[in-house]
Amino acid sequence: MNNYLMNKVLQKPIYIANWKMHFTSSEVNLFFDKFLNYSFNNKCIGFAVPAPYLSIASNKLNNSSLMCGAQNMHWALEGAFTGEVSPLMLNDLGISFSLIGHSERRTYFGETNETIAKKIKVAIDNSIIPVFCIGETKEEFEAGKREEVISSQIFEGLSLVESDCLSSLIIAYEPVWAIGTGLSASPEDAESAHKLIKNLLKKLVNNSESSNLSSDITIGDIPVLYGGSVKEDNAQNLIEQENIDGFLVGGASLKPESFIKICSYR
Ligand code: PGA
Repeated sequence: MNNYLMNKVLQKPIYIANWKMHFTSSEVNLFFDKFLNYSFNNKCIGFAVPAPYLSIASNKLNNSSLMCGAQNMHWALEGAFTGEVSPLMLNDLGISFSLIGHSERRTYFGETNETIAKKIKVAIDNSIIPVFCIGETKEEFEAGKREEVISSQIFEGLSLVESDCLSSLIIAYEPVWAIGTGLSASPEDAESAHKLIKNLLKKLVNNSESSNLSSDITIGDIPVLYGGSVKEDNAQNLIEQENIDGFLVGGASLKPESFIKICSYR
């Protein structure tokens, strides 16, 4: 499915589950057996599954409209990188997207804007949609540095991408202080961050000499998802915001019932 999706305007809203390091293979099967009983017309829904279960998930989702994704990938196509997963391996399994630069990867595994830029480029080159995760920490937020942090994440993270390839991208804004804490950003606060991100994307394209986003795609078509303690009880107010194009959901995506509920809001 991945080649089909690249360079297409993705249908919004988009809901992506981030299962992080959870589940056994039988739990993955059970989850999909429940989830696949529902139909979500015109919604784009994806699952970022742990690497050992990519094959199971990809087979399960093969005949559905749901996307199967990875939580991380390496920038090299192959080589001596023990423990890593290459974009060619993801292609081999029919994987549509990969999270890139999740704050847990930045915090615990030393990912930087520079390594993230390489991953985003190689993902696009190999027809894997990068779900590029950005967001400020609590300290940065309290010091009024949100704009500064997000700008450098965007400008450095996208520094290797030609502007005409930006349409192959999903951005996930996840304030680090809201991830797994139960403290979501308020709808107004998230909306203002999303507006800022869309303005920064415009600036990036305007600054680029080869500013040739394909004529049927505009910056407004690049989806910007919100993530950070999205739950059944705050999803509706968040998704109503003009510039919030969907969600990246961690904890609440582990139960089919909650994720189904979240995906049903628009
Ligand atoms: P959370 O995680 O929904 O549990 O806050 C979101 C994420 O880390 O992507």
